[in-house]
Order: sequence, then C-alpha cells, then structure tokens
Amino acid sequence: MNTRMQQWLANQKVTSRFHPSWILMVVGASLAIGLLMWLLSTAVFRHESPSPAGPALPASAQHLPASEQQPSAAATEPAHPAAEITRAGFSPPDADAIPDTEFGDAVRLGRAIFTDTQTYAKAYVGNGLNCVNCHLDAGRKADSAPLWAAYGLFPMFRDKNQKVNTYEDRLAGCFRFSMNGRAPAYGSKEFVALMSYSYWLASGAPIGAELAGRGYPKLPPPQQAPDPARGKQVFDTQCAICHGADGLGTRVGARYAFPPLWGPHSFNAGAGMTQIKNAAGFIKANMPLGQGNTLSDQQAWDVAKYMTSQPRPADPRLGRL
Ligand code: HEC
Ligand code: HEC
Repeated sequence: MNTRMQQWLANQKVTSRFHPSWILMVVGASLAIGLLMWLLSTAVFRHESPSPAGPALPASAQHLPASEQQPSAAATEPAHPAAEITRAGFSPPDADAIPDTEFGDAVRLGRAIFTDTQTYAKAYVGNGLNCVNCHLDAGRKADSAPLWAAYGLFPMFRDKNQKVNTYEDRLAGCFRFSMNGRAPAYGSKEFVALMSYSYWLASGAPIGAELAGRGYPKLPPPQQAPDPARGKQVFDTQCAICHGADGLGTRVGARYAFPPLWGPHSFNAGAGMTQIKNAAGFIKANMPLGQGNTLSDQQAWDVAKYMTSQPRPADPRLGRL
C-alpha cells in the first residue's frame, strides 16, 4: 500500500467516517445471515421427513439400500398434502375420538365386527377367526393391510376376479375366503358398519393414493427356494408356543386366544393368506406377535412355505367348476 493510501485511511479513522474493518463486518454479517437461513431451511425439511418413530416407510422402501431410502431433494418434494402423507405415512384417529352421533354408532359397530367377528357377524363366519387376526390393531397397523390404506383406493380392478371391485366386494372376499364364510348382504348393517369404520379410520387420508404401509410388505425374492423343512424348524421354535405345536391354534374356552394357522377352523384355500408372498410379508412384518421384523426374510419365506403347505378348508370356488 502506498503512503498516500495509508494516510487516507488514517484520516478516515480519525474522522470516523470510514473504517476498513467495516468491510469485514458487512461481509461477515451477510455470511452469518446466509448460514442461519440455510440451517433453518434444513431443519424444516428434516421435520417434514418421516421420523424413525413415525409410521412405517413404504414396504418397497424398507428393502432399498440405505442410500436409496433418502428422498432425493427436488424429485420427492411434496407437491401437496396427499403426496406428503404418502411419503411420511398416515396415522388414523384413536378409537376414543369416534363421535357420539348416529354415524359414530355405525363406526363403533364396525370396529366391534372387525375385532370380534365371532360375536358381531357370527352368521357370516365359517371358521375360528376374527378380521383383526390378520389386520392387526383393529385394522390400524401399517404393514398388516390396514383399513385406512385400503378405503380410498376402491373401487379398483382386482386380478383375483378380473373386474372392478367396490369396497363391499372387497369385504365380501375376506368373508368368503379368509373367514371361510359368506358375505353379508350389500347395504346390510354389517357392511354399512364396516364401511363406516374404514371411512372413519381414513379420515384425512388422500383418496386414490397408495399410502405407505398399505397391504403386507412385498419381500425381495428369497435367496434360497422356500423350504418347508426349514420352515418347520422356524415354526417349532418361534410360533408353536402360541399357535400350538399342531398349528391348530390355542383355545381358551370356546374362543381362540391364538388363532389357527391351518386345519378346519382356519382360512380356506382360496384366501389371500395362502399365497406364499402374502404370508411371508405378513409374517415378516408382524410375527412372532410383538416381535415383527425379527425373522430374516429367508425364515419368513420358509415358515410361510410350511404354513401354506398344510391342510385347510377347500377353496369354495372349486365346488362351482
Ligand atoms: C386369514 C387372514 C385374513 C383375515 C381373517 C381377514 N383378512 Fe382381509 N385380507 C387378508 C389378505 C391376505 C389381504 C390382501 C392383502 C394384500 O393384498 O396385501 C386382505 C385384504 C383385505 C382388505 C383390502 C386391503 C387393501 O389394502 O386392499 C380389506 C378391506 C379386508 N381385507 C377386510 C377384511 C375384513 C372386513 C375381514 C373380516 C370379515 C378380513 N379382512 C379378514 C387376510 C385376511
Ligand atoms: C406371542 C404369541 C405369538 C407368536 C409367538 C406367534 N404368533 Fe402369530 N398370531 C398371534 C396372535 C395373537 C395372532 C392374532 C393377532 C390379533 O388378533 O391381533 C396371530 C396371527 C397370526 C396369523 C394370521 C391369523 C391366522 O390364524 O392365520 C398368522 C399367519 C400367524 N400369526 C403366523 C405366525 C407365525 C408363522 C409365527 C412364527 C414365526 C407366529 N405367528 C408367532 C400370536 C403369536
């Protein structure tokens, strides 16, 4: 710096009209504000992302390598609340929030039918099961085909019967196959109640969107062909204590405390649970009860193979052929 410049600067200091450190202060302050805004925006974004404690990730996401599970900025930025719920998972309302209205009464009856089908829809049930046995936590649990994730997708086309199915058609299917019974009449109080309960559980959920946690998780293909002999070992050590050494369930009085996995009082051969991919996904995510996701995928495939190889009531469609 030449002396004239130094002199000028010194002069500025004395007159306190300008000081070179002001430049540093301005630059520093801008940087600090910029940093603060960046930190705030990342904090907000993180808050919007699914938290580990929140509802489950989409079934497909659970099996992606960790690197692919992170939403990649712009691509997954939610466009509107529906997209947000789909990504983060949906939470249904609690049972104590059922309104004290006529509609609320139907919702309560639907919940009762769903959790105690043996009592509230006895005439339509041909086995020892209740809907809740395969749709846990009163049809609320993600990854056990929760009702709130199903409701908004109907009417929908189903491969099983090659037509567009209403929600009542879908309920009818589970009565006929999973419950080995017959469907209540369309528009009956049982169907209205089950629809009301499902509608209410889906309060606030987007219509027509595939929600995270719908259905049973789709496991990646097994590394080794599912093997019933290995499956029996899993069954004997991990399942028999509740479902009985013979798989026929454990009764307390006339009721099953632990439902039968096969035999005359279980789901019939036309039920979705007899498809090994459904059984493996359900078992992996939900069994042993309270210890979901503790079996390896291979163990889930093997025990599903063992379970689906056992005798059970015939597929009612076969009698018609
Ligand atoms: C033996 C197990 C079992 C029982 C008992 C059972 N279900 Fe199901 N349910 C299934 C399976 C398997 C599916 C198909 C899940 C999938 O596709 O991932 C299903 C699907 C459904 C769906 C559609 C879910 C969706 O996301 O599309 C509804 C609704 C349903 N069941 C209602 C009922 C009702 C009501 C009852 C009692 C009357 C019942 N289920 C009893 C096994 C069962
Ligand atoms: C601690 C007891 C317990 C253990 C251990 C257990 N389950 Fe279950 N399981 C249950 C109960 C209870 C239900 C019904 C859940 C409900 O109604 O909320 C159930 C439901 C099921 C169902 C659907 C209903 C049916 O009858 O088909 C299948 C399939 C099943 N379990 C398979 C298994 C397999 C396979 C294992 C071992 C890997 C296993 N469970 C271990 C208690 C258990």
